[in-house]
Amino acid sequence: IIEDVRVRKILDSRGNSTVEVDVVTWNGFGRAAAPSGASTGSREVVAFPSGGVDEIITEVEDIISSELIGMDAEDLQDIDLVLKEIDGTENLSSLGGNTVVAVSMAVAKAAASSYNMPLYRFLGGNLATCIPYPLGNMINGGAHAGKNAPDIQEFLVVPTGAEDISEAVFANAAVHKKIRELIQKKDPSFTGGKGDEGGWVPNISNHDALEIQVTACEEVTDELGVRVRPSLDLAASEFWDSEQEKYVYKQENVSKDTGEQVDFVREIIETYDMYYVEDPFHEGDFEGFAELTAQVGDSCIICGDDIFVTNREILAEGIAMGAANAIIIKPNQIGTLTDTYLTVKLARENQYTPVVSHRSGETTDETIAHLAVAFGAPLIKTGAIGGERIAKLNELIRIQEEIPYSRMAELPFTE
Ligand code: PGA
Ligand code: ZN
Repeated sequence: IIEDVRVRKILDSRGNSTVEVDVVTWNGFGRAAAPSGASTGSREVVAFPSGGVDEIITEVEDIISSELIGMDAEDLQDIDLVLKEIDGTENLSSLGGNTVVAVSMAVAKAAASSYNMPLYRFLGGNLATCIPYPLGNMINGGAHAGKNAPDIQEFLVVPTGAEDISEAVFANAAVHKKIRELIQKKDPSFTGGKGDEGGWVPNISNHDALEIQVTACEEVTDELGVRVRPSLDLAASEFWDSEQEKYVYKQENVSKDTGEQVDFVREIIETYDMYYVEDPFHEGDFEGFAELTAQVGDSCIICGDDIFVTNREILAEGIAMGAANAIIIKPNQIGTLTDTYLTVKLARENQYTPVVSHRSGETTDETIAHLAVAFGAPLIKTGAIGGERIAKLNELIRIQEEIPYSRMAELPFTE
């Protein structure tokens, strides 16, 4: 039974304010914080009401706690419904999606703690034994970096050959170090600057960044004997020019229509043997997504983030069109754990790989590590280094140790 709900303003990794929620029950306690995006999808729920975090602290806390106190934390679905009812809007703009997600996660953690169970076990049951592979972020561009950085937002890697999570996270860290050396060789004036998600921010073209990324993967694969494969998040909504109806690459000074973008991304996938490609088209370009998936979707993960925004109705439209074969799962894009779970369920039923993900603005909250295990997600995207990123990675190391019969998740397109 919930006895108290406390909401406070805390710092996120960009120095902005966000919310942290404590839920106290008579025999349990849960704490969770909400992250924030920079390259948000336009159909995500609204992060905060118009008055920002301060409005939540002064007004919203009382409203939420008066409704939730006395409810059973175990009844997570009911609590999520009550939160949506109190809010009363489609896009959670009166309480703020970030408030709702932090309450929803803190309630789940309080319920788990009242059973003396870790969250992954409480939500996922005895079947939650698979550890996800980490997608590590190596080079940052786009909305996560300065204006001379690559247009492609994230140059990622997946250690597909890792035997356990420890091998996986250290392989990613090794690639991260290697990439710094390679950037330095290319640009001796590089000062080691990093972007919002801890990847390096070099003053180089998309093409040079791709070459460096792939070289680093090959060298680390040889040195460690753990296969590491390159991946990308283009976050193409950020460089789609809706007036010209073109994808505008400022680094190379070229623009591409959807058809040219399909060819361009397919060539990158084939040339560099990309394992995973996220948001290769802008959030409204379902046709581009479907065309690329038809061409390469039997050997490469094509993942939708801004296009689906963890929303099962939008995902259903995408499934009907064959728009992708994977979906990014960010609880704060949709607001409640219940809705997050239902989106994962729909994805699974249609052979879409769920990829549980951080946001570019994060806290040291580790909840998504538990969610990835609970949902049986084969991949988790949570950076490679930086305190707010390693909070999740190190939690996975602990979870692996806790489950004696754990194993790495089964990845698509590997044998
Ligand atoms: P965001 O970006 O958290 O800034 O929205 C992350 C992503 O696009 O995957
Ligand atoms: Zn993305």
